[in-house]
Amino acid sequence: MPKKTIADLGDLTGKRVLVRVDFNVPQDKTTGEIKNDRRIRGALPTLQALLKAGASIVAMSHLGRPSGDAAKDALLTMDRVAERLSTLLSKRVTKAGSTVVGPEVTAAVAAMNPGDIVMLENVRFDAREQKNDAEFSAAIAALGDAYVNDAFGTCHNDKDASMVGVPAKMKADGKPRAVGMLVAKELEIIEGLMGHPKRPVLGVMGGAKVSDKIAFIHALLGKVDHLLIGGKMAYTFLKSLGVDVGATRVVEEELAAAKPLLGFVGGKITLPVDYLAAKSDDLTAAQVFEGNITAGFEGVDIGPKTLALFAEKIKSSATVIWNGPVGWFEKPAFSKGTKGVAEAMAASGAVTVVGGGETAEAVEQYGYDTKMTHVSTGGGAFLAYVEGKPFQSLTQIDDK
Ligand code: 3PG
Ligand code: MG
Repeated sequence: MPKKTIADLGDLTGKRVLVRVDFNVPQDKTTGEIKNDRRIRGALPTLQALLKAGASIVAMSHLGRPSGDAAKDALLTMDRVAERLSTLLSKRVTKAGSTVVGPEVTAAVAAMNPGDIVMLENVRFDAREQKNDAEFSAAIAALGDAYVNDAFGTCHNDKDASMVGVPAKMKADGKPRAVGMLVAKELEIIEGLMGHPKRPVLGVMGGAKVSDKIAFIHALLGKVDHLLIGGKMAYTFLKSLGVDVGATRVVEEELAAAKPLLGFVGGKITLPVDYLAAKSDDLTAAQVFEGNITAGFEGVDIGPKTLALFAEKIKSSATVIWNGPVGWFEKPAFSKGTKGVAEAMAASGAVTVVGGGETAEAVEQYGYDTKMTHVSTGGGAFLAYVEGKPFQSLTQIDDK
């Protein structure tokens, strides 16, 4: 059932709308500089529509995972994000105060005129945020007449006050709640993908750990006609099947996680048939192996035969869903596989959906993001939604 959207909020003229966005953007670890603003750009349609409707906006998000170390946490203040949002909206965006809630914030919000927008400080700077604290939720809820959830990337977090406690309090107070355009689009596309996809459906998986994605892989296997597995996790499967993976590190618990899936290999699951492996002590020495990998070498990418096989599969599919890079793509020398998969998807006539932070970054880096049907802003949220996990955050928003 689709959720109420901002069009269902009624007349917003002069109303204050609290918008939970996911501006948890990747940052440079030493300078705090924003490395990719895709998530900020993703929320612009909703923010612009609300401003156009005559509302004022109180936007809020978390940024990173504050540790309590003051020097490190200083990089996680919302200032840079507010500044970037201001540039993208061509409009002044100020931070409401130096704490998330409090008299300074209440006064700044009260002083807003229609068309104004302020940002709250990083909601995780207040320890009550991740405890879904009732008092904290009430203090935030008091700042708005209506609530909008446009934070798809965080929708799976069930203990966050800004995602669950705030809309719950607003519901209790009879204030309207809706999903934003980004969340509505993500839900529609992923639901369509899992509900009635065009067949044949192909899944492409990569990334490091089988154990992290085991529920996702099972959910995918229930939907797809075929699943290609590359990336670091492929070596776990290969090792389980008796292939010597050389110096590629595969731990016991990963082997255990892969075990129940081994029966699918050769049937629904295709593993790499060749791989690029580099010398552990000299990454510039890399060569392609078929079968066993020589001692001292570790797998870093899929090989050319595998890429050709994967590209062929992509070409003959009607829907392709991809999560997880198939190689160590951050290193240009090991990025051929990941780039090749992105290229094949971009060139195909299939419905193409990409999910997961790293995968989305890779696709964008190669300039193929606009050639995909959809690139999700969700990492963990994308995986959890595909798995069919219920989201507490969304239960606070009424169905249409
Ligand atoms: C994410 O990037 O996964 C979301 O922004 C949620 O952040 P978290 O993983 O720190 O809860
Ligand atoms: Mg996460």
